[in-house]
Amino acid sequence: MEHPTIMVTGGAGFIGSNFVHHILYEMTGARVIVFDKLTYAGNLENLADIIKDKRVTFIQGDICNRQIVTEVMSACDWVVNFAAETHVDRSIAEPEAFIATDIMGAFTLLEVAREYKIKRFMQISTDEVYGNAEAPGGMSRPSLESDALKPLSPYAASKAGADRLAFSYWATFGLPVIITRCSNNYGPYQYPEKQLPLYICNALSNRELPVYGDGKSTRDWIHVEDHCAALSLLLRAPLEQVAGEVFNISGNEERSILENALAVLKITGQPDSLLSFVTDRPGHVLRHAVNAEKLEKRLGWQPHRRFSEGILQTVTWYREHPEWIQHILARHDSFLEHALIAGAHEIHRQ
Ligand SMILES: NC(=O)c1ccc[n+]([C@@H]2O[C@H](COP(=O)([O-])OP(=O)(O)OC[C@H]3O[C@@H](n4cnc5c(N)ncnc54)[C@H](O)[C@@H]3O)[C@@H](O)[C@H]2O)c1
Repeated sequence: MEHPTIMVTGGAGFIGSNFVHHILYEMTGARVIVFDKLTYAGNLENLADIIKDKRVTFIQGDICNRQIVTEVMSACDWVVNFAAETHVDRSIAEPEAFIATDIMGAFTLLEVAREYKIKRFMQISTDEVYGNAEAPGGMSRPSLESDALKPLSPYAASKAGADRLAFSYWATFGLPVIITRCSNNYGPYQYPEKQLPLYICNALSNRELPVYGDGKSTRDWIHVEDHCAALSLLLRAPLEQVAGEVFNISGNEERSILENALAVLKITGQPDSLLSFVTDRPGHVLRHAVNAEKLEKRLGWQPHRRFSEGILQTVTWYREHPEWIQHILARHDSFLEHALIAGAHEIHRQ
């Protein structure tokens, strides 16, 4: 389809807004309907430069609201579902919203997609659904799409529920579902509660960088642009190659919390004395990493941006957009304030 109308839920958040930019650039004939509740994580400033593009429509709404979802989706060809509660630490403190949005919201979207015979439904899942990256015998190795799901946090469990629910709509109803499980993203427009933007904002403001435990637990990092390129490729691929399938997406850059903190301190010219080691939490995953060979073999996708280059670009972006950060701080999100200022050590896990 050359000129699809694409409903992008959660399109005012971090990855969703980057994706909207990406798809408008790549598919000049596409129309995009950004559908977003604008929770604390949603931010219209993420779309400021494209909101007046006549190919873009913004609608504020909740993916749990079947009526408004129906009104919007009935005019769409494809759906990409980014909308979710996404912060692991908030899911430990207040899991209810995660069940509502990540599971019931996805269910509502899938039901309406089935009714309106949506031609492509992409469910943005996450590598968090695997739990610790390990082979069935327990040996540590990057997760494969065929591995068992062992989510460890309410966030991961709610995403795992939506992931499998989406698959069931393919298996049961033939809805053309594509499921992606990407590793940790970083880049412009990421809400500063997450690890890297928190480190960057704190380093730029001369505040401590909290490091969980001994800082050795690792994640696999991908620049958000590489993630969006993979999603775009999957969305436009021949349906028989992707429908009903799960694809891991990886940056192939495993790094520990401590390595990330040190990298940010170095780029911002801050001393290592800003490191602050804090108590780890139960349920913290030691290693997240995914094997993305399936996507590479099927569609020839590979990440292009090395971490060393991507983190430099990201720090520069945050340095050059102090007003973006200030507007977020002006909302007085107590969870974020606690993370950034008072008890920075409590809330930064991604
Ligand atoms: N950030 C990562 O590293 C990462 C990695 C893999 C997968 N993912 C997945 O990618 C997606 C986007 O993640 P992100 O980091 O951009 O998240 P984010 O928190 O920055 O953005 C989430 C967006 O969803 C919107 N939203 C929340 N509840 C909604 C509701 N009920 N109805 C409509 N909109 C709602 C928010 O307003 C916000 O704009 C999520 O599904 C997440 O699970 C994220």
